[in-house]
Amino acid sequence: MRRAVCPGSFDPLTVGHLDVLTRAAGLFDEVVVAVLVNESKSSLFTVEERLQMLEQGVADLTNVSVDTFAGLLVDFCRDRGATVIVKGVRSVVDLGYEVQMAHMNERLAGVQTVLVPTAPDLSFVASSLVKEVARFGGDVSGLVPSYVLDPLRRRLEPPA
Ligand code: PNS
Repeated sequence: MRRAVCPGSFDPLTVGHLDVLTRAAGLFDEVVVAVLVNESKSSLFTVEERLQMLEQGVADLTNVSVDTFAGLLVDFCRDRGATVIVKGVRSVVDLGYEVQMAHMNERLAGVQTVLVPTAPDLSFVASSLVKEVARFGGDVSGLVPSYVLDPLRRRLEPPA
């Protein structure tokens, strides 16, 4: 049985993330989506909110579950019996850093990384850009699941 971990911040979940998770679900027997809990990094959505978005997003993928992790990703992989990490690659810009992390995770614990190219029409979709565009009132529909649109708009509203 091949179990893979798909890690990330998912702040917020995008259609690009869902594309990678769907591809991973087709490649492995089981996929655990792992949301990084990083107290030192400020995020727009709480971990609980991100978990909820992911649970909704993968509801139709029967071999995908969602969890959180803190600390080293390879420790989480070991605890969950996963031998593979799956990461999405949007373009060559992502590739350098992803290969560097893949080498580090292999050196730390022998965990392999499978890099999955995202759909070409989603190669520009990134949580950071989505937040920036939404913050200034730009249209991000189609870039995040529909149920993320309202929470995103509300969270970015200036305080009354
Ligand atoms: O969505 P992101 O922010 O690109 O995800 C990055 C993530 C969570 C995969 C990476 O920061 C990570 O693995 N952090 C856990 C700490 C760790 O294991 N660091 C060493 C990585 S080689």
